[in-house]
Amino acid sequence: MSSNITPHRALVSPGQRAALKAQQPCVLWFTGLSGAGKSTLSTLVDAALFKRGHHTFVLDGDNMRRRLCRDLGFSDADRTENIRRVAETARLMTEAGLIVLTAFISPFRSERALARSLFAPGRFVEIYVNAPLELVEQRDPKGLYRRARRGEIRQFTGIDSPYEAPEHPELELDTAHFPPEHCVRAVLTYLEERGLLNPPADIRAAGSHGREGDSSFPQPDRG
Ligand code: ADX
Repeated sequence: MSSNITPHRALVSPGQRAALKAQQPCVLWFTGLSGAGKSTLSTLVDAALFKRGHHTFVLDGDNMRRRLCRDLGFSDADRTENIRRVAETARLMTEAGLIVLTAFISPFRSERALARSLFAPGRFVEIYVNAPLELVEQRDPKGLYRRARRGEIRQFTGIDSPYEAPEHPELELDTAHFPPEHCVRAVLTYLEERGLLNPPADIRAAGSHGREGDSSFPQPDRG
């Protein structure tokens, strides 16, 4: 990192942006094997939150790897860099006031811990989308497991690249035994119980989104 960098301070704080959206930004970090259901569930939770009036966005492995992360492959080092970029992107999006859902295998505990460290306590919700390898191999929606077993794809998670299951996720969704609607409900219930779907406490107290003249309204730097 260059030492000749001076961060520029914004006039609008992350708290003010969140208050304008009347929501508490957080990241819902879906992790699990390919084919476990991360994309399906994150998309459904996204739609359910959107329907309730929340400002959300999904970052998905297959999509990110076409654009921001298209220079990366599936070596351990590239996956680590992939997750670092995703975590930093999610962080920027939460600073912009959004509830962010990420759907990446994110196979390594250390990288998930690093991602967690970028967020305030309680604002990183690790969701383990759990389905056994035998089942995801049967599902094989993209035919990738078959190709990995034939040796046509190397370093495939679960085959010849490790997946380190979360030890203490905030939530575990068993997609082998429960349908998507049940899993979506579990996520929404978790968020409701933790108060994460309520407006931030200060705007509940003020009963407004902050107006000019409020002490919360950004003031330009003087001098
Ligand atoms: S991660 O390990 O770096 O988190 P990511 O979630 O971005 O992976 O991408 C996983 C997706 O890439 C899978 O759903 C699958 O469609 C595709 N893919 C292609 N090659 C591999 C591979 N070797 N291992 C796992 N997934 C792969």
